[in-house]
Amino acid sequence: MIFSKTLNHWYSNNKRDLPWRQTKDPYRIWLSEIILQQTQVAQGLPYYSKFVHEFPSVFHLAQAEESDVLKLWQGLGYYSRARNLHTTAKYIASELNGVFPTIYKDLLKLKGIGDYTASAIASICFNKVEAVVDGNVYRVLSRYFGIDTPINLSKGAKEFKELAQELIDKKNPADFNQAIMEFGATQCRPQSPDCNICPFNKGCIAFNENKIGELPVKIKSAKAKKKYFNFLVFIDKDAKTILEKRVGKGIWQNLYQFPLIETAKSLEFEDFKLAVKKHSLLKEVSFELSLYNEDVIIHKLSHQHLYTKFWIVKVGQSLPNSIPINKIRTYAVPILIGNFIEHFNFN
Ligand code: ADE
Repeated sequence: MIFSKTLNHWYSNNKRDLPWRQTKDPYRIWLSEIILQQTQVAQGLPYYSKFVHEFPSVFHLAQAEESDVLKLWQGLGYYSRARNLHTTAKYIASELNGVFPTIYKDLLKLKGIGDYTASAIASICFNKVEAVVDGNVYRVLSRYFGIDTPINLSKGAKEFKELAQELIDKKNPADFNQAIMEFGATQCRPQSPDCNICPFNKGCIAFNENKIGELPVKIKSAKAKKKYFNFLVFIDKDAKTILEKRVGKGIWQNLYQFPLIETAKSLEFEDFKLAVKKHSLLKEVSFELSLYNEDVIIHKLSHQHLYTKFWIVKVGQSLPNSIPINKIRTYAVPILIGNFIEHFNFN
């Protein structure tokens, strides 16, 4: 009880004024929580505003084209979250008349809604006693209680969930959950938290035993796989280029990219030129090849590191299915490609 009282007091004095704190609308809370799983508050705010502006209700989102949803999501990464958001909006609009379930167990059945999001919606919108556990909560609880069970093992997930469920303020679960996340985000920060002004410092085991830097414990995951991506930025006779839609499962599903040649290792100019000659668009076509980025761009995803080169391929004739260069910004592309498009001078 003391824990939640101290936390509540801290929250009243320190909470940030955020747009999703002005509402209990489950659609908006859902949207904000999904965005905040991808990024921090400051970076997430403009995305939240764009989504709410473009799709003010679950019906608007349900009626959207997937490509428009992905375009708005561009830059946040992990696009399956955006696709699930869209799928679930369609389901809620058509099967549930736009009405969100109010209890944890029913929310959990929706695509893209896991333990964290179901607990957040049930507690924040419907005042259900469902504790949330996100990275912030792991950090706060592991430090205060001095718990070193790894947070990325199921044993740790269970232990912290049970502890949070014991601690949650049964009278005001909505504020307790937001308060503990806010406290983790702004006070009990991963690096150099200011423990001297922390209201929990007297009872905090990590602070008193000098273990702030050691907690929470996370087991190191397997090393990321290296992949070698070569994007072909065609520029044909009519100043048009080629974008292809990625099909099948896996990263960037349904997003657009420049034609890709994946190689087993990083190839130098002459070797790559031989490889590129075999590309279906370049058979019996003369072309001029140049490398855009001398320094390879390393794009880090959770399980793979993409060693990326953009190759400019100038072709003296018209290419089939090519698109005008001034249209490429209307396509949803991975941020890796988006950054290239922003910086490359196509003229
Ligand atoms: N991080 C993610 N969701 C949050 C919320 N509702 N309040 C504070 N921080 C959060």
